Amino acid sequence: MADFVGAIDQGTTSTRFMIFDRGGNEVGKHQLEHKQYLPQAGWVEHNPLEIWERTSAVIRTALAQSKLQASDLAAVGITNQRETTVVWDRRTGRPYYNAIVWQDTRTDRIASALDRDGRGDTIRRKAGLPPATYFSGGKIQWILENVEGVREAAQRGDALFGNTDAWTLWYLTGGSDGGVHITDVTNASRTMLMNLETLDWDDELLSFFDIPRSMLPEIRPSSDPSLYGTTRAGGPFAGEVPLPATLGDQQAATVGQVCFSPGEAKNTYGTGNFMLLNTGTELVRSKSGLLTTVCYQFGDQPAVYALEGSIAVTGSAIQWLRDQLGIISGAAQSESLARQVEDNGGMYFVPAFSGLFAPYWRSDARGVIVGLSRYNTNAHLARAALEAICYQSRDVVEAMEKDSGVALEFLKVDGGITANKLCMQLQADILGVPVSKPVVAETTALGAAYAAGLAVGFWQNTDQLREQWHEDQRWEPTWSDEQREEGYKGWKKAVERTLNWVEV
Ligand code: G3P
Repeated sequence: MADFVGAIDQGTTSTRFMIFDRGGNEVGKHQLEHKQYLPQAGWVEHNPLEIWERTSAVIRTALAQSKLQASDLAAVGITNQRETTVVWDRRTGRPYYNAIVWQDTRTDRIASALDRDGRGDTIRRKAGLPPATYFSGGKIQWILENVEGVREAAQRGDALFGNTDAWTLWYLTGGSDGGVHITDVTNASRTMLMNLETLDWDDELLSFFDIPRSMLPEIRPSSDPSLYGTTRAGGPFAGEVPLPATLGDQQAATVGQVCFSPGEAKNTYGTGNFMLLNTGTELVRSKSGLLTTVCYQFGDQPAVYALEGSIAVTGSAIQWLRDQLGIISGAAQSESLARQVEDNGGMYFVPAFSGLFAPYWRSDARGVIVGLSRYNTNAHLARAALEAICYQSRDVVEAMEKDSGVALEFLKVDGGITANKLCMQLQADILGVPVSKPVVAETTALGAAYAAGLAVGFWQNTDQLREQWHEDQRWEPTWSDEQREEGYKGWKKAVERTLNWVEV
């Protein structure tokens, strides 16, 4: 058998291809960014063809740099930014419109209408999600209603919907003349269209958005020994590699962090933050503003569910300091600038740029900086931005503890911002529990590789994967309880100031 497994990680700002050996160690990687289109306030789009072009390029380059070819790969897994919506023409492979990104808030009226007439509660019950701009259903509806010819094409059966996993899989398996049209349970659970109990598209939910079933991909397990297909020889792999696995990126990170038992949780720090708590095969419905989502489904085993706290803006607040305010030149500088001060100087920054996600779900919220006095500097703002990342995670932990009745004892972390040591220390201080980071920090790609490898017998079982998780760094809390509660009180006051800012 081949000695390696590949993983495509199609993220919000970039796409990477990674290659892992049997020990779960990285042996090759290439990554490219794609353009963010911001045509109006609140709108965020990607060009799906650019994403496919970048995906092909990172695969070719990573294989060439590591001197490997298709036959060296036992399988390839796909993981992706979730919810981001592509609708394309099955006859040409061309998108009808740019991908509407998960952060995009143009569907705020669609989302709030759902809550005015009771449909919202049905969505909560069946799909486990609160009606929000975040999920795919409203984005598909927007494309059907606003892009000329798409409604008719959908009625003819020519328009296909997919998140970027299905889009990538379509091109990997068939090119513009048509590949397989498949997604997995984790991605489907982010659309507001899938019933969490049947794991199938739900006709009542589809009727809420007036979406024809024929647009939707077939839903399969996240790790499927019967394979979704193989890569086509004329594509970027230049050979046929089994494609048995897809997972939304946050679910993949949960697998990469080997959170296979109920009660195990991880927090990923990317453009946003996403904390997932494995609840086992039991469907736990949140009373505290968390999502119920599918964590993974391996082969013919029952689906495993998770409670999720999704936070829209964390790393992207640091990018905002860099790109819009110009007070730092790169992410690393957010740490050195914030280290110039001892504390936040009374200042709180709530980056509610896309409204507030978990646990508030308020699309009428917008960002605030409060508590300013003439004393404050850029350094306080940088510190407040790092604290905002950690306080938003505290909000989510509070909700998880309420829902599960279990107090968090320690937190597994991963993602870009975990390189910021001050931020991780603040996270331990603000939560009051140790924070632990694994040696292989690329847990998202690793999780997709694990799901693919399990499907083809490259790895035997999850126990084997558990043994491959090793701690790299740990941060212990240093604040007193009083300091922690005082700080959190200020944060909650600042959050109140963001609410009722725009009419939806
Ligand atoms: O739900 C959105 C999430 O999947 C995006 O993750 O890492 O691409 O920002 P990331």
